[in-house]
Amino acid sequence: MRVVDAFRDAYDGEPTGIWHAPGRVNLIGEHTDYNDGFVLPFAVPWGVTLAARPRTDGVVRLSSLQEPGDAQVLGDLGAGLEGARGWARYPAGVFWVMAGTGLPVGGADIVVDGDVPRGAGLSSSAALEVATALALDGLYGLGLAESDAGRMELAGIGRRAENDFVGMPCGIMDQAASALGREGHALFLDCRSLASRPIPLDLAAHGLRLLIINTGVHHELADGQYARRRQECENAAKRLGVTALRDVTDLAAALSELTGTERARTQHVVTENHRVEAVIGLLRAGAVSEIGALLNASHLSLRDQFEVSCPELDVAVEAAIRGGARGARMTGGGFGGSAIALVAEDRVDQVRDQVGRAYAERGWAAPTFFTATPAAGARRLA
Ligand code: GLA
Repeated sequence: MRVVDAFRDAYDGEPTGIWHAPGRVNLIGEHTDYNDGFVLPFAVPWGVTLAARPRTDGVVRLSSLQEPGDAQVLGDLGAGLEGARGWARYPAGVFWVMAGTGLPVGGADIVVDGDVPRGAGLSSSAALEVATALALDGLYGLGLAESDAGRMELAGIGRRAENDFVGMPCGIMDQAASALGREGHALFLDCRSLASRPIPLDLAAHGLRLLIINTGVHHELADGQYARRRQECENAAKRLGVTALRDVTDLAAALSELTGTERARTQHVVTENHRVEAVIGLLRAGAVSEIGALLNASHLSLRDQFEVSCPELDVAVEAAIRGGARGARMTGGGFGGSAIALVAEDRVDQVRDQVGRAYAERGWAAPTFFTATPAAGARRLA
């Protein structure tokens, strides 16, 4: 395994263990997690593989096969971690959260290897956080990985690293999908109670594929707009006198109390939660191909009410549907990254052609395509 070779080269000696945490794609339930709502992501077959060995002196050494020449040595588990730059802030943040909350962890030598397609919005950062948390759990015998509740704690550690150390105010979806994913299943998650349930998702049995269309773009405004959407949702909830938009039970009444942006954001979040529940109902009933219409409705709502799409995502979705997809939508935070399309097996080439042609007509760089089936969540490999 090349991560083990790299470990030997970097540090001399053998790693204590190898861990893997996957990225995720979200089937439906977008911008609902930080509104205490519902999400339905699944772990993808790409992620972060990490070789690690503990250290008794509290030093953290980090290197990455994807960032050659940017190995970093961080002095100690307190102020030393603050020196982490760029990619290393994600694992450093995990050490910072774990040590800061009093978990009995020490330093470590770590080499990271990743194969999440770049810029695809498939949560390589959550994979890196969860892989680091899982490795520390294993190296220091915390036992969190052994139960679903413990795995949710590992996800929460990753999220706090991202919120409080990296400075991105994300919700829990990405880390939870990475920590709790199951092969062949999507993960239904109630982001308030953190109760989760694996939902069987066997697309092949229904002659279907989930095509991921990576637009390859990442619009600069993404991060500022994400924080702004959160704020808008919180403002709307406050005006409605509820804890979170999750608590809106009478949508028509709520909308009549709101105007402008707050009204539009509320409409998206409440209807998106309903769509997650509807998709689960259809999956349970074995009516997998029927979820297409809900994917389409989700996209329109994200485009028009939540305003987090962009031309590249809209064109991918529209062309996929023209090419015969059962449904399509942007996935993840928006402003770039990937769209997903639910496609009958014998239509996959046609959909790819349509999307490729639509991009070429506009003079845009060709998108890349992947098909993904739900993979297992974070685990120790050796
Ligand atoms: C990003 C965040 C998630 C979630 C999605 C939108 O991926 O990391 O927590 O909010 O955007 O659904």
